[in-house]
Amino acid sequence: MQFPRIASFRTPDRFQARLDELQLQLPFFGDFGGGPNSSLADPLTTRAGQIGNRFCILPMEGWDGTTDGRPTELTRRRWKRFGLSGAKLIWGGEAVAVRHDGRDSPHQLVINEPNARQLEGLRETLVDAHASHFDSTDDLCIGLQLTHSGRFAAPTSGMGRQPRPIYRHPILDQRCGVISDDCLMTDDDLKRLADEFVVAACIAQRLGFSWVDIKHCHGYLGHELLSGFDRPGPFGGSFENRTRFLRTIVDGIRTEAPGLEIGVRISVFDFVPFKSGPDGVGIPEAQSGYRYAFGGDSSGTGIDLGEPSEFLRLLIQLQIELVSTTCGCPYYNPHIQRPALFPPSDGYQPPEDPLTGVDRQIQLTAELKRRFPELIFVGGGYSYLQEWLPSVAEAAVNEGMVDSVGLGRIALSYPELPSDVLAGRTTSRKKLCRTFSDCTTAPRNGLVSGCFPLDRFYKDHPDRDALQEVKQKYHE
Ligand SMILES: Cc1cc2nc3c(=O)[nH]c(=O)nc-3n(C[C@H](O)[C@H](O)[C@H](O)COP(=O)(O)O)c2cc1C
Ligand code: SF4
Repeated sequence: MQFPRIASFRTPDRFQARLDELQLQLPFFGDFGGGPNSSLADPLTTRAGQIGNRFCILPMEGWDGTTDGRPTELTRRRWKRFGLSGAKLIWGGEAVAVRHDGRDSPHQLVINEPNARQLEGLRETLVDAHASHFDSTDDLCIGLQLTHSGRFAAPTSGMGRQPRPIYRHPILDQRCGVISDDCLMTDDDLKRLADEFVVAACIAQRLGFSWVDIKHCHGYLGHELLSGFDRPGPFGGSFENRTRFLRTIVDGIRTEAPGLEIGVRISVFDFVPFKSGPDGVGIPEAQSGYRYAFGGDSSGTGIDLGEPSEFLRLLIQLQIELVSTTCGCPYYNPHIQRPALFPPSDGYQPPEDPLTGVDRQIQLTAELKRRFPELIFVGGGYSYLQEWLPSVAEAAVNEGMVDSVGLGRIALSYPELPSDVLAGRTTSRKKLCRTFSDCTTAPRNGLVSGCFPLDRFYKDHPDRDALQEVKQKYHE
């Protein structure tokens, strides 16, 4: 299946015509030129602090920490660029594991006492970079994303996946190497892990982060718990049980780290795992009766916002205000979460125009914002919009569909996009992320992540040759 490239829509009319053809209602201000009077420049007042504008840098891991979970020069470079972006909300920086067995790779950061000073330095690097280019850091709001990778854990070099799932899954067990119940997290494991999230949150507060994200997305442990319908005991079955882990952590943080705010990044819907079909295009692995998608309607590719709404209602009860909406899982249905024209090496050709995936995330976030106006929503999935990202972002904020526009991949290829837009400067076409997926293919093959095609630094990085070889191999 071939879809027209975004770069081929040279005028607002042509972009609009494509949206009409796809029957998408994406908001869009065709003549938007940016500048300090735009809606994207409006400040936002939150419990976590004042946020100076409506751009957010989404968490972007680099798979480039040391094997004991400390940042390296590559990590510091990425965080520095986040600080230089001009975005005033930093959603977590990147996923940081609360303990070793929860890492998604041997190079994921880990938050613990021995690593504390280095993580503090990472935050300072970001703040210093921001201070060097912008008037104030008082309106810069930085949280840290805390995670355990659960089913997708792969903490030790040379060991492959060492999954710690919370329930047996008919499709994912095989993909993740789960062969018996022995690796399942017990109730006691989950209670201990909740305590470790609280300890990590206390460290994060001491290091100067004003809030932490208790990650509930992308198939990792927090997200997997939400679909543990069949799990017996206190952490499975009913909605109350499936959210017990979150509530336990929140209670602990309120007691042990008063004043620390909390956010939740959540996959608001999920689909069945996809696989490559006979022609390389993604196809769902089950056609009906799929009951493991939180926010799914059991058809495998349909959405039911009933439980996600209940979840957001719970966040309000828990006095949590910051929500980052995302969806699915990058390992088993990447096309819904990070719409791309070019799939990662272990992926499949897009089964829909990636614009449809962008629209789905934006519209569902808008629907949830309509239902829960008191929450602060950060949206995602915008990078695929490329040339049209600023015009859609401006319209979405202006029309109250989202509070802050999250930037993922484009923050790697073109971190200073927010400051260019807010200053009314012409954006640089050659830095726009074209969704080549190298930043995903590289870490899937044990290499560091980065924008190898567009960022000069990574074009010259030694892992680039290895990446080319990997891509060649997959191609053959
Ligand atoms: C290389 C890479 C690293 C990512 N790391 C994280 C992460 O650490 N935590 C997280 O919640 N999401 C992570 N994501 C997902 C992004 O935050 C974002 O949701 C996704 O890329 C879609 O947004 P975009 O279209 O702007 O790229 C990552 C995505 C990529 C491509
Ligand atoms: S490697 Fe660069 S161009 Fe490709 S998806 Fe990642 S950020 Fe975008």
